[in-house]
Amino acid sequence: MLAEKFSTALELFKTKAPSLIGIDIASTSLKLVELADAGKGTFRLERYAIEPLPKDVVTDGNIANLDQVSDSLKRAWKRLGSRNRHVALALPAAMVITKKIIVPSGQKEEELELAVEAEANQYIPFALDEVNLDFQILGPAPNNPDEVEILIAASRKEKVEDRVAIAEAAGLKPRVMDIESYATQEAFRLIAPSLPANGRDQNIALVDIGAHVTHFYVLRNNQFLFSRDQAFGGNQLTLDIQRAFNLSVEEAESAKKTRGCRRTTTTMSCNRSWRRSRSRSPGRCSSSSPRPPTTRSTRSCCPAAVRFCPGSTSWSPSAPA
Ligand SMILES: Nc1ncnc2c1ncn2[C@@H]1O[C@H](COP(=O)(O)OP(=O)(O)O)[C@@H](O)[C@H]1O
Ligand SMILES: [Mg+2]
Repeated sequence: MLAEKFSTALELFKTKAPSLIGIDIASTSLKLVELADAGKGTFRLERYAIEPLPKDVVTDGNIANLDQVSDSLKRAWKRLGSRNRHVALALPAAMVITKKIIVPSGQKEEELELAVEAEANQYIPFALDEVNLDFQILGPAPNNPDEVEILIAASRKEKVEDRVAIAEAAGLKPRVMDIESYATQEAFRLIAPSLPANGRDQNIALVDIGAHVTHFYVLRNNQFLFSRDQAFGGNQLTLDIQRAFNLSVEEAESAKKTRGCRRTTTTMSCNRSWRRSRSRSPGRCSSSSPRPPTTRSTRSCCPAAVRFCPGSTSWSPSAPA
């Protein structure tokens, strides 16, 4: 029974399968990346694509609308321009329970599966038939060469199945289901050789700024020493820009991504002097005679995309860069 469960479940952790497209289902966009083997253990970025996702379709890894995400994935894969349909996906760490266990070495695969199931029964707060369960042998136990250390991972089936369904509906073939934090660690392993001394014996901080949460990891010799999630992300910046400059969420998001934004000593606002100066000098907007910030009803004079001019109190309407 367990063997069947293992064979039908996508293999968590298996990150080294060749010729896979990596897919990140994030809160604001889908990101696809394809690497090519450049020899000597190095990789080259072959292609990537970023496809924006409609608002609130994915929140902290929870997928509210599978159809919308798979439609976006279909578009992203087309834009990627690859013929490869084999993909690797990942689950947010918060959706996966992991545990390291120590077992005697030299056990057969079936014996290990039984040991893993017995252990999982103790730690997983769901019935085992409601979860996808997998394990990976990490190596000899730290204090005893006659034992091995095993990492167990389990996630509720629907979390895995949602992602599989999205990929399949987009005509893709899911081959690997990883855990996002482990995928980050694995990605770092690929860039470590480009660091001084291959990044060996150094404390390395990895910072992943998401929409709502920033993940902060410290690694040393490819081992996690520390990890912490902070309840802060890019969305907060968007909201701050939106409030400070009286923009819609879409305008603030676009301004954040295309131009950056700097507060100046005067309040930048959309006001009558802007309209006057605009009529004198098309395309320019000056806040040299600042007015109190506008209310939403007057925001209609704001261009769809605005450019904040760093270091000045003027700003000008512009198309996104
Ligand atoms: N070019 C950019 N400049 C500034 N912020 C960006 C840029 N591209 C994406 N972001 C922001 O980074 C955050 C990325 O979050 P995302 O990876 O989509 O979510 P998740 O938390 O699910 O990983 C979002 O807030 C997004 O607006
Ligand atoms: Mg992200």
